[in-house]
Amino acid sequence: MKVAKSIAVLRAWRKSKSAPVVFVPTMGALHAGHAALIRSARKLAGSRGSVVVSIFVNPTQFGPKEDFASYLRPFRKDLSISRAAGADAVFAPSVEEMYSGDRSVAVEESRLSQSLCGRSRPGHFQGVCTVVAKLFLIVQPTHAVFGEKDWQQLAILRRMVRDLDFPVQMVGHATVREPDGLATSSRNAYLTPAERLLAPRIHAALQSAALKKSPAAIQASAKKSLSAIPGARLDYVEAVDALTLEPLRSRKSPGRLACAVFLGKARLIDNIALPPFHERI
Ligand code: PAF
Repeated sequence: MKVAKSIAVLRAWRKSKSAPVVFVPTMGALHAGHAALIRSARKLAGSRGSVVVSIFVNPTQFGPKEDFASYLRPFRKDLSISRAAGADAVFAPSVEEMYSGDRSVAVEESRLSQSLCGRSRPGHFQGVCTVVAKLFLIVQPTHAVFGEKDWQQLAILRRMVRDLDFPVQMVGHATVREPDGLATSSRNAYLTPAERLLAPRIHAALQSAALKKSPAAIQASAKKSLSAIPGARLDYVEAVDALTLEPLRSRKSPGRLACAVFLGKARLIDNIALPPFHERI
C-alpha cells in the first residue's frame, strides 16, 4: 500500500492508475464504519481498479470551540485498518500541504447547508465542501464513497458534484451500527462507560418515532424520547425531505429523520430513512 504525504507523490502514483479509482475520504480515527466503506470501495474497484483513502483532520470544518486539537490521530492503526480493508493508497497530507496561509478561495453550498447541523455549526459545510473539492482535484477519483450517517454532508456533496460538474460518481454507504444500534463514529470514543450505555437510545428514539404517520408526530415523538435521555442535550431533531433537506411536509416523498445530541463531551449525530408511507405496508 502506497502512503503519500504530499500532493506531488499522490499525483505521480495516480498517473499510473486506470479507472475505476474509488476514493474514501476520512479524517482518520478509523473504526468499523470506515472499514466497511473501504471494503465496499474495494468491491467497486475490483482487481483492476484502485482504492484511495485520505486521512486528513481538516481544520477548516471545525468551529473555534470544537474538538480539532483533541481529535484522535492514531495514524499507525489507521494505516493498518486501511490496508486490511483493501486500500491501495493512503493520502495523508499535513495542514500546510493542503492549505496556504493566505488562502482566499472556498467552496460554498448555500441552501442545503443552512439547516440541521449547518445551523449549529456555522462554516462547517464550507470547510467540508472546500476540502472535498480539493481532494477530488488531487485524487481524481471515478467514484467516492461516503457514509449515510452524515446524511446532510452526503446531500450537500452530491449537490456540489452536480453543480460544479465533478466527474465523480457519489456512492452512499448505509450507516454501520454497533450491535446495540449506536451508529459507529470516531466521537463515540469521547463517551464515558455510563454515557455509552445511554447512547443507543438515540437510534431507538428515531426508530420508534418513525412508526408515526405524520412528520409533525414523528418529530414530536423523537423530541420527547431524545430529551428523556439522562444528561443528554438535544441540538435538533427534524424530519426532512431526503434530497432537499427542506422540512418534510407529508409521507408521500422519501424523508429522513435526523438528529444531533450532546452526550457528555460527544456531539452525536444519527439519521434514519422515512420511506414514503405507501411503501411501508
Ligand atoms: O466525513 C468526514 O470524515 C469528513 O467530513 C470528510 C468528508 C473526510 C471531509 O473532511
